[in-house]
Amino acid sequence: MANTATKAPAVEDIMSRPVVTANPTNSVATCAGLMNDAHVGSVVVLDDGRVVGILTERDLVRLAATRYGSDWTRSPVKEWMHEEVDTIGPETAISDAFRTISERGYRHLPVVSNGALVGIVTMRDLMRQARIQPADRYAGEVPKGLEGLAVAETEIGDVRGQQGFFHYRQYSGVDLAEKRSFEDVWHLMFEGELPTAAQAKAFREETVPLRGIPAAVKPLLPGIATLGKNFVPLQAAKAAYSLVCNELGFKTWLEIERSELRDQALRTVAIFPTLVTALYRLNQALEPVEPNLELSHAANYLYMLTGEVPSPERARAVEQYLMLTIDHGLNASTFSARVITSTGADLGSAIAGALGALSGPLHGGAPSLALKMLAEIGTRENADPWLRERVLAGQRLMGFGHRVYKTDDPRSTMLRGVAERLDGERVEFAKFIEKRAVEILEELKPGRALYPNVEFYAGIVMNMIGMPDTLFTPTFACSRMVGWTAHILEQAADNRLIRPSGHYIGPEPPAPVPDAEAS
Ligand code: ACO
Repeated sequence: MANTATKAPAVEDIMSRPVVTANPTNSVATCAGLMNDAHVGSVVVLDDGRVVGILTERDLVRLAATRYGSDWTRSPVKEWMHEEVDTIGPETAISDAFRTISERGYRHLPVVSNGALVGIVTMRDLMRQARIQPADRYAGEVPKGLEGLAVAETEIGDVRGQQGFFHYRQYSGVDLAEKRSFEDVWHLMFEGELPTAAQAKAFREETVPLRGIPAAVKPLLPGIATLGKNFVPLQAAKAAYSLVCNELGFKTWLEIERSELRDQALRTVAIFPTLVTALYRLNQALEPVEPNLELSHAANYLYMLTGEVPSPERARAVEQYLMLTIDHGLNASTFSARVITSTGADLGSAIAGALGALSGPLHGGAPSLALKMLAEIGTRENADPWLRERVLAGQRLMGFGHRVYKTDDPRSTMLRGVAERLDGERVEFAKFIEKRAVEILEELKPGRALYPNVEFYAGIVMNMIGMPDTLFTPTFACSRMVGWTAHILEQAADNRLIRPSGHYIGPEPPAPVPDAEAS
């Protein structure tokens, strides 16, 4: 994939399209229905292809407040739309679009090229691109789920959803996964640069010995792995990891040297795969396999899982998956790690919180569910009815949709290639389901831009390399450990307690407190 990071984005890179449009004679009720269906806040009114007006949510409020409010079906849009519409060209710089929108108090600005409507740029599109915006500017209207809000300054990486691009410290994540090793990217994330051969050797010598589990923790693992009936490897690894932190004496970073915090971060990345595989094997009544100090991080992970040195193809497949998922902006788990770090809590607590956030199906818990979906669909004939029924019932197709990507997720595209390399024939069915799911989502959820995310092909790749389903999310955690710890180091280097406010919407206080009823 070409490195698109250097091109300064213009309006055409971020605008929404296709635009929801209406005729001047359509009723306001029709327009409101179109806006509701497409999940947008405006309709552009066209006459013979020419922009003649715009109807926004504010106009609907205006109409509702008048005596005509009860008869929207008869009010034609031309009577309620704004006729003098400002437009901009697709090549306009984003900063200019932002200035126009904020100075004139607009929320939507149609984009016109050679007299034809080609898109619309909204406040939301611009906020997605915003680097850092003071939160008080949006007090009372912070988007639900903090969508599009920049909540930290970071040099670690960035996701450009409209362009389908993500990078680690300016290098395309996909290019890194194609050309470099996991250890090189780990070095890049921690030290700020890709290593020279000598640096790579020194980094390897520093990190490989950190893979082992402390002697005091080892005897406790069988208890964790066989506790109760429900073995959830990610939960078990979180518990074991907390014991490691306790044993190694991790404490508030406010009281330790930065070099010690860095050592803790390295130890965390190095040891987590050992904990995951040891606990999994113990649960299966197998002896844990000691780390192989000769193997790379990725190959050693597979080795500790099976006891056999993996083929170079399998090791590279898992390594590429791990590299692609090291970091991805201020996703929920990374944000959690930064929030916890901002309190001065120890690195282990921040990681435990991040692991909790990752476990949710809306974040890292989806790959096994995506695979389950493929198994349930079973045949090509069953695809359409199965997918339609789920979407119409309001259920989510696992492995589709993303908060930031509104186009192909580049991680998914690369993992599709990795899966094809491993077993082209087996991946045909997944590709068919992917295509039908995208088409059906476009039909039943128009305008939501739902495409496969990293989790769809992640499950398939991991399944092909023989990874058990229950280890999909823990494997994701093994790679994201690098991103989390890099963010913890960055947060600690320039910290301010992250403590936002809620927007209270309950009844007006103070209410008199009634006396407790006598029992
Ligand atoms: N299947 C069907 N409809 C979907 C899907 C989906 N996978 N994803 C979103 N939608 C629909 C929603 O129902 C909603 O429709 P509506 O406008 O009619 O209410 C609309 O698209 C917008 O959905 P939101 O929930 O607002 O989108 P958000 O940005 O919050 O969600 C998320 C992103 C959580 C990833 C969502 O797409 C989802 O639930 N996907 C399925 C789970 C999944 O794949 N998780 C892994 C994410 S990747 C990662 O974290 C590493």
